[in-house]
Amino acid sequence: MTVDAFPEESAPQRSRLFAAGGPSLAEHDGRFGSLPEFRRPGALAALLDEAGLVGRGGAGFPTGRKISTATGRGAIAIGNGAEGEPASSKDATLLAHAPHLVLDGLILAGEAIGARELYMYVPTHSLATVRAALDERHDARWDRHHVKVIEAPDAFVAGEKSAVVSRVEGGPALPRDQFASTAVSGVRGRPTLVQNVETLAHIGLIARYGPRWFRSVGEPSEPGTMLVTLSGAVRAGGVVEVPTGVSIAELISHDGGTDPGTLRSVLVGGYHGTWLPAASLGDFQLCRPSLARAGASPGAGIVHALAIGDCGLARSADIVTYLAEQSAGQCGPCINGLPRLAQLLTDLAYGTTIPGTATEIRRIADLVDGRGSCRHPDGTARFVRSALDVFASDILLHNDGQCEALLTTATGHDSRKESRV
Ligand SMILES: Cc1cc2nc3c(=O)[nH]c(=O)nc-3n(C[C@H](O)[C@H](O)[C@H](O)COP(=O)(O)O)c2cc1C
Ligand code: SF4
Repeated sequence: MTVDAFPEESAPQRSRLFAAGGPSLAEHDGRFGSLPEFRRPGALAALLDEAGLVGRGGAGFPTGRKISTATGRGAIAIGNGAEGEPASSKDATLLAHAPHLVLDGLILAGEAIGARELYMYVPTHSLATVRAALDERHDARWDRHHVKVIEAPDAFVAGEKSAVVSRVEGGPALPRDQFASTAVSGVRGRPTLVQNVETLAHIGLIARYGPRWFRSVGEPSEPGTMLVTLSGAVRAGGVVEVPTGVSIAELISHDGGTDPGTLRSVLVGGYHGTWLPAASLGDFQLCRPSLARAGASPGAGIVHALAIGDCGLARSADIVTYLAEQSAGQCGPCINGLPRLAQLLTDLAYGTTIPGTATEIRRIADLVDGRGSCRHPDGTARFVRSALDVFASDILLHNDGQCEALLTTATGHDSRKESRV
């Protein structure tokens, strides 16, 4: 069941999730109206399948399919707003501006799986907003189900789904071995739906306006809008809502207010993501099918720009150092491999390098790949390989005691362009 068409006149394609204009229940109710109910088992999952909604937490898994899998006795639903990724602020922004849309999605997803327990897992800075929204719903008799709020620690791996499950069970927010999917066996062995908060907000909209409306914008294979955090060397950084499949060059120029020609590279997908050379930005759209050609993915909608005058190797070394520090230190690849990768990249970027360092970095990246309890080593290895590929010319210069970024800054233009002439 879906209700009236989306009020298009005041809600252009690019602002669906933020269309209410404010976080209060009155603004939410005024814009979107009451929350529909889906009484027929499987109805919501079927609607989401038809809409083609995929998760917005990074992996892009089909949401309807996950809801069908997590349905079962004593099921549990969790809204994941942990957002441990430093280059992302879209979940915090969404919770600050549209908490009720997220809660609507959690209620609907929880009802669809027959959940007995519903949780919102959010970092310290979002706790007050979420609690205030829940109080409003209670006072206005909007609370069809009780939702418990759990604080997520500020750590990169705290939002990984097995870490979320562990925290909800009262343990540390650390990933653990996963022998079955969380949807089948999560919190206390029960079917557990862990869904990113943006995914839940889209559910709140699709339930009201239907799959056709949702599919009316975006890349057909993963339609709708998505939130993007733009950061780094852009004039206008921040969170924007765009149709999936938007051109990355357009995103940088239109939303970021920045000429892509002033950039050296762009990191898509965040700290587990992939560098794209600035010259190639026009070839890529922000969606999985397009970015897959470069072995990349939009991840949780992260686009981080590196200026021509910045050293890609130095930025990459800093990120890998951070990632090595953020591991839970439980598995071999994180205990031994990640610190070694961080050290070697730091040597390449800042110190004296010995011949063969890049080859050794690649060897270790291959060694850690797929060997941890969670995908933290895999994501780090992907990021490291892309840094070696995209900044290959910088490695040669660094070996000669020079730096492309410094050359560019000193001459005021891009030395790579000169070298191509
Ligand atoms: C190291 C690591 C950190 C993650 N952090 C988050 C996070 O902060 N928030 C999130 O929604 N998903 C995060 N994920 C993905 C979750 O494991 C899970 O796939 C996601 O919450 C599912 O929601 P979705 O299907 O709505 O995207 C992380 C994954 C990894 C490997
Ligand atoms: S792979 Fe690393 S981050 Fe993942 S559980 Fe093991 S030690 Fe922790």
